[in-house]
Amino acid sequence: MRTAISLKGITKDYGSLTAVADFSLDVERESIFGLLGPNGAGKTTLIKILTTLMRPTSGDALVEGYSVLNAAKQVRRLIGVVPQANNLDRYLTARENLILHARLHGMSPKEYNPRIDELLELIGLASRQRDFPDIFSGGMQRRLVVARALLHNPRVLFLDEPTTGLDPQSRRAVWEYIQSLRSKMTIFLTTHYMEEADSLCDRIVIMDEGKALVDGSAAQLKEAVAHSHIYEIEFKGNADHYEGLLRSMPFVESLERNRDSFRVALKDEKDLKPFMEKIVGADIKRIFLKEPTLEDVFIELTGRNIRE
Ligand SMILES: Nc1ncnc2c1ncn2[C@@H]1O[C@H](COP(=O)(O)OP(=O)(O)OP(=O)(O)O)[C@@H](O)[C@H]1O
Ligand SMILES: [Mg+2]
Repeated sequence: MRTAISLKGITKDYGSLTAVADFSLDVERESIFGLLGPNGAGKTTLIKILTTLMRPTSGDALVEGYSVLNAAKQVRRLIGVVPQANNLDRYLTARENLILHARLHGMSPKEYNPRIDELLELIGLASRQRDFPDIFSGGMQRRLVVARALLHNPRVLFLDEPTTGLDPQSRRAVWEYIQSLRSKMTIFLTTHYMEEADSLCDRIVIMDEGKALVDGSAAQLKEAVAHSHIYEIEFKGNADHYEGLLRSMPFVESLERNRDSFRVALKDEKDLKPFMEKIVGADIKRIFLKEPTLEDVFIELTGRNIRE
């Protein structure tokens, strides 16, 4: 594997809280890697360490072979960062924000001006480039931060929830753009949108409480974790009666009800036959097999309790 990012036993303590615990990981070059996890799992902490904004309590990480501890300057030159919170300069216009960033990366006006024009066009803000970000909507600010991260053609791009707060149109535009970067740079992203991770990422790690729980492609995670066979059934008649019936079946692993429809998880494929025998004669409106989603995997691994 040609490695772009290598985490070597990273631990981060905030006082008595261990936010990241002995985390090791190698990310392949020019792949899209997705880090998922509930609120407080430690995703942003890891990104802050990898982008040299914070030092780990112990361990080290290499970005394109440079240590975040000993070669932070080289690391910063090679990376683009979209932080979780928009950090635009409110006293500079949209274009000036981009120019400042380009200058900090040592670009000349001849290099950065056409690139800025191209990016402003791409994010749909060309006509607003002389406005201050304060009067932009959240989504417009987010798009500007994404453009800024790409300006200097980074080799490794870190995106901490890049599409949070974006409308469906802008989200899709960002997805398409990330797709188009696929073979040009390494992309490390976090997201709470399972659909986003599923469609974009070559590899996904789900973490919780500072540790990795699973690692693989979306298809592998679904295959490995969502083992139960889930059916959705809607009845026409007395739903309370059917709820009682479903609850009495020993091979029903879990049951969720939404009005007259039920989400039934069977323990095993072989339970389908006895299950069908029990509900034969029931007034069924519709029944279908529900393929597991990445969200099912996420919930199964990290539970249903709300964090912090
Ligand atoms: N500067 C800090 N000082 C103290 N505790 C912190 C600090 N930053 C983060 N934490 C704690 O560390 C844990 C991990 O936080 P982190 O921001 O890395 O989570 P996250 O996975 O990015 O969550 P989210 O999905 O909500 O963005 C949380 O319990 C958080 O409260
Ligand atoms: Mg975060």
